[in-house]
Amino acid sequence: MPRPKAVFICRECGYQSLRWMGRCPDCQAWDSLEEKVLLPPKGMGAGVEGERSPASKPLAITELGPIPASRMSTGMKEFDRTLGGGIMPGSLILLGGDPGIGKSTLLLQASAELSRRGQTVLYVSGEESTEQVQSRAARLGSLSERLFLANETSLECILSQVEWVRPSLLVIDSIQTTYSENLQSPPGSIGQIREVAHRLLELAKGSRVSVFIVGHVTKDGSLAGPRALEHIVDTVIYFEGERQNLYRILKATKNRFGSTQEIGVFEMGEGGLKEVENPSQSFLSERSIGSSGSVIVPVMEGTRALLVEVQALVTPSSTAIPRKMASGVDFNRTQILMAVLEKRLGMGLQSLDVYVNIPGGLQVEETAADLGIACAVISSFRNRPVPPEVVILGEIGLAGEVRGVGQVERRLAEARHHGFSRCLLPQSNLKGLINRGEMELIGVERVEALTERLFLAK
Ligand code: TYD
Ligand code: MG
Repeated sequence: MPRPKAVFICRECGYQSLRWMGRCPDCQAWDSLEEKVLLPPKGMGAGVEGERSPASKPLAITELGPIPASRMSTGMKEFDRTLGGGIMPGSLILLGGDPGIGKSTLLLQASAELSRRGQTVLYVSGEESTEQVQSRAARLGSLSERLFLANETSLECILSQVEWVRPSLLVIDSIQTTYSENLQSPPGSIGQIREVAHRLLELAKGSRVSVFIVGHVTKDGSLAGPRALEHIVDTVIYFEGERQNLYRILKATKNRFGSTQEIGVFEMGEGGLKEVENPSQSFLSERSIGSSGSVIVPVMEGTRALLVEVQALVTPSSTAIPRKMASGVDFNRTQILMAVLEKRLGMGLQSLDVYVNIPGGLQVEETAADLGIACAVISSFRNRPVPPEVVILGEIGLAGEVRGVGQVERRLAEARHHGFSRCLLPQSNLKGLINRGEMELIGVERVEALTERLFLAK
């Protein structure tokens, strides 16, 4: 088959060239030429309205077929939850994450489970040989006769394998090793990544095959390739966590078929990834009771309340510019909170090093954790531990006011469930609270009132 014609098009000005150049001769931009395949436009040129393909004709919403069939379960509740309740047939899903975080392991386990439930799955690895994947699958107890493996990097070959196997799920591991023969640029280049993704999108929408694309992304997003796909795919999920840490968090950042708030928590061990069904318990298991600078905060991750430990360490600084660091919480937000504490409580934090950390690898983005972060800093600053039965909840405003937060009852229930009996929370949340969950509730209006309430003895 003749190779479809490819041209190089400047991203900046649209200049076209038949060969690649480092610099666009028209607008002088560097490295802006991208390879694209020129396909004859479908249904065009006929000149007669009636001859256009029927697909281009808009349909009344009521004329469309029935709402698509039910989702496929991965057999892992945590995975299903992140996807919005399972894999939607015909969806294109990008799974991103650092190399070595466990993307292949997760998809292999899910593929095996799906195939055990009667679905046909084609797992294409361009990174590992079929023997390697097979031995890993055997170790994970993931052998199943409906699970097909291939070691292939050419998209055209993969598509013909799809024709042959007719799977309901296709896994491409990874986008960086897959290339289309239509383009000359190397696998992993932006042009290739886009072309492969578009062709997989056609496959997903045309034949209702669900497709997972694995993409390696480094923390700072420096491997920009997969990021360019985010707008093409239906769902983007990221697998996060520190490699030396046991916990792995699966998070959706875009989902056309569900919420992006839900997370899934996993633990990497000898037998692969295990779901963590009670994340609060796991996150609290290594908590050091009785030390200063540690506070428990009930945060919401989607529809689920989780208890996380916020740690702060305030120490005299040995450097000219004292260090402020935050991990697991937003650095700028922490800076604001420290400024509020300085101004409203007169705490001299400028000359001190302040570190804030969430152990366990979870990223807390909620402002409802503000009060907890502030209390952890105060506790470490004063070197007084917060009583172990206390959880803390609330947003802090610049004027030092403690502002109300949502879903208080769920958070209290989770805290109660794990044996906490007292909660510091915004005064405004106290009103209208129907179910107090048998907790002693201490309302706080302003940060100035925090210290006396925080260290109350039981
Ligand atoms: P992998 O799924 O290959 O990561 P990715 O596809 O994201 O690059 O997982 C790699 C890491 O997981 C590797 O360092 C070993 C570890 N691992 C375990 O600890 N236990 C296991 O059962 C498996 C399969 C992997
Ligand atoms: Mg891998």
